[in-house]
Amino acid sequence: MRIDVLFGAQQLTPQDTQGRIVAVIDVLRASTTTAVALANGARAIIPTESPDAAVTRSKQLERGAFLLAGERRMLKMDGFDLGNSPREHTREVVEGKTVLLSTTNGTKALLAVQGARDVVVASYVNLTAVSTMLRTALRGGTDITIVCAGQDRQFALEDAGCAGRYVLNVAKRLNGIDVNDAALAASLIDRKYGDNLMRLFNTAVHGRALAAAGFGDDLAVCAAVDSYPVIPVYQDRQITKLGPDRER
Ligand code: MLT
Repeated sequence: MRIDVLFGAQQLTPQDTQGRIVAVIDVLRASTTTAVALANGARAIIPTESPDAAVTRSKQLERGAFLLAGERRMLKMDGFDLGNSPREHTREVVEGKTVLLSTTNGTKALLAVQGARDVVVASYVNLTAVSTMLRTALRGGTDITIVCAGQDRQFALEDAGCAGRYVLNVAKRLNGIDVNDAALAASLIDRKYGDNLMRLFNTAVHGRALAAAGFGDDLAVCAAVDSYPVIPVYQDRQITKLGPDRER
């Protein structure tokens, strides 16, 4: 049984994901926003490669049934309904809607995964829910790959720290789990910051950039462990919440 961590989706090959459960992490902010929107009643999130692709896809949906959301350089795009701040994806706004989401790194990382048995979206806000699902799969003999979206093709400290926490939770007290060096490095980062996630975020380049751009309050939302305990599953080009209507 294996848990592998990959820093960045660019290096993904089919062998990394084939038959595995893949967890994609973009903790600041796309994977957090996805969990928040689903927990707040969004019908589905459709990740798209680009803002144009989101607009094109929206033409297949009924008017009023969808929201265009996402960011470039952290900011909402012209003509879009929402940015990528989890604080915008409130129940009042997203309930019952399909959210077409295009972000710089997070949605692209998700779209890069191919051939996996299941793909889930992981962050701190749904840590225990997703860890439990991954642990059950691992104990059943399915290997896990954790993909850190990173930032502009660079390593991102916050994604690595979050991946390290997942490795810890998923492998806890299980014998015979092999991990790659990236998983070991991620675990060291998690151990260094421990529960002080605000220190992790305020150290990371993207965390500091978000604060400087006026999104400092988003960091606290992204650091609130288990505050949105949903399991977002990506299948058939959309992310929906695993639940009674969608059991695995
Ligand atoms: C991304 O996908 O690159 C991010 O989620 C950027 C952000 O909005 O913070």
